[in-house]
Amino acid sequence: MKQVRGETALVTGGASGIGLGIARALAKAGARVAICDIDLPRAEAAAAELSASGADTMAIALDVTKEDDWQQAAEKVRAHFGDVTILCNNAGVGGGSGLAETYDPSVWDWVFAVNVDSILYSLRTFLPAMKAINRPAYIVNTASMSGLVATPNSIAYVSSKFAAMGFSLALRNELSGSPIGVSVLCPGMTATRIVETTQFLRPGEAEKGIGEKTASAMNTILSTGMKPDNVGQAVLDAILADRFYIFTHPEWKPLVAAQAQEVLNGFGESAQPGHQDDLAGLMKAASTGSFKMR
Ligand SMILES: NC(=O)c1ccc[n+]([C@@H]2O[C@H](COP(=O)([O-])OP(=O)(O)OC[C@H]3O[C@@H](n4cnc5c(N)ncnc54)[C@H](O)[C@@H]3O)[C@@H](O)[C@H]2O)c1
Repeated sequence: MKQVRGETALVTGGASGIGLGIARALAKAGARVAICDIDLPRAEAAAAELSASGADTMAIALDVTKEDDWQQAAEKVRAHFGDVTILCNNAGVGGGSGLAETYDPSVWDWVFAVNVDSILYSLRTFLPAMKAINRPAYIVNTASMSGLVATPNSIAYVSSKFAAMGFSLALRNELSGSPIGVSVLCPGMTATRIVETTQFLRPGEAEKGIGEKTASAMNTILSTGMKPDNVGQAVLDAILADRFYIFTHPEWKPLVAAQAQEVLNGFGESAQPGHQDDLAGLMKAASTGSFKMR
């Protein structure tokens, strides 16, 4: 996208942290911004802050895990601002600290609903109109460094962020050849309210004992993280540059390199010597865009 001035942006989880940082950067650059969040009072406060500095904004209550909510949000934005051309699927929650053998399935489902299923609902809601207007538009999905390396967080958080990463890569394939750009945001530690939000919103029993202690330690370490406004500015820069990967914390690069190297080291002889998969045939057979890599 050459510029965002005059475009209509929708940011989920826009009331706090990284989402608010994205909303601020987009508003400052002249976009109209719909701030969507499950926490409406906080979204309204965020919208009021942006409006006070001259931006055109609105706050919308949206639980990203409910597809009906998405439809209602879309109608509200369309009525006020017209078609959404910048879609930031950013709302996300942590997974606490449960180990696999005792992880509560209801918490697992919730983490995946917020961090992954919501992206599907978002696209089912907005992608048809984005395609129909047939002019540059943009989608940013928030994953994490935990979507590329298995950080020692909860197994649900890491799994859901790898899923958000895979979703974004597949979406880029699907949209290759269209005027709709895609980025995946992979921040490292950022000073936000995510631990608090997660504790407040999670279903089931509150974490106790080691889980509670870990949450408190995570809160302390995240408070030393990057400022969300800097992450928001990086998102704006990537939209303008049409850059798929949004990396904000280069200190993670050696970990990503080590992980990629381990994968490469895992390749050896074919399990069926002499066999060759028909990769070109696979590309031709696929109906969902081309295999896009730069
Ligand atoms: N903070 C970090 O260190 C960090 C690092 C990498 C990735 N991330 C990702 O960044 C994104 C934003 O998180 P943050 O750190 O800014 O946290 P945050 O808690 O400050 O902000 C997240 C916002 O999402 C909202 N939200 C939660 N569930 C929702 C739902 N069902 N529907 C709508 N809104 C909902 C919350 O109310 C909150 O306002 C998440 O996807 C998170 O996984 C965060």
